[in-house]
Amino acid sequence: MAWREWVRTVEVEPSLYAADFTRLGEQIQILLRAGVRVFHFDVGDGHFVEPITFGPVILEAIAPLVHRHGGRIDCHLMVDNPTRHFPQIARAGGDSVTFHYEVVDDVRGTIAAAREHGLGVGVAFNPESEPERVAAAAADADLVLCMSIHPGYGGQSFMPEALERIRRTRSALPGHVYVQVDGGIDNTNVRAVHDAGAALIVAGTAIFKREDLPRAYRRLVQALA
Ligand code: DX5
Ligand code: ZN
Repeated sequence: MAWREWVRTVEVEPSLYAADFTRLGEQIQILLRAGVRVFHFDVGDGHFVEPITFGPVILEAIAPLVHRHGGRIDCHLMVDNPTRHFPQIARAGGDSVTFHYEVVDDVRGTIAAAREHGLGVGVAFNPESEPERVAAAAADADLVLCMSIHPGYGGQSFMPEALERIRRTRSALPGHVYVQVDGGIDNTNVRAVHDAGAALIVAGTAIFKREDLPRAYRRLVQALA
């Protein structure tokens, strides 16, 4: 996936972790019609993060629907040993993989391994990791994901100190690498997250736990206008 040729100035990415799984396809379709271009897909292994979330089997089920409407699936791998999952994610229709800085020894080699499968690549980091160190290792990535919560569960509150880490990440990275932010984003903070330097903004609860999904998505987009 070539993120660069594809992302608009800013993209709000609904996080499927917060979806109603009895109506997954329907909710995806509704959001595609509302203008969503990229979905965030959280893979948790029950080891790097406490919960087991979902993986390639579900990805395979939804990928044709998303792709048919010109959308993309951005896979956030909250897992140990991310590299071993790249082939399966690529085969199942994932467009991009974001692995965690904390679990790999060789960030550059891991980025290269993902590209061999034709995947876009991101490097995620937890609140404890130092933005400058991550940025220095991630210059070959498409995006760097600055977590604004401790990863694992949806519905947590945005950590206000994340804004400063977003700014530090943005200024430490070359201009062609996007900054993505994930965790606790809603109408009250989305603007500040964007102003701090994020172009890719993930939102789970603020979209899926609302009555009207398209309206919730559009409200976030409008807050950025
Ligand atoms: C949690 C995931 C997030 C989560 C965000 O660790 O990485 O993508 O779905 O959900 P909200 O927007 O509810 O914080
Ligand atoms: Zn995520």
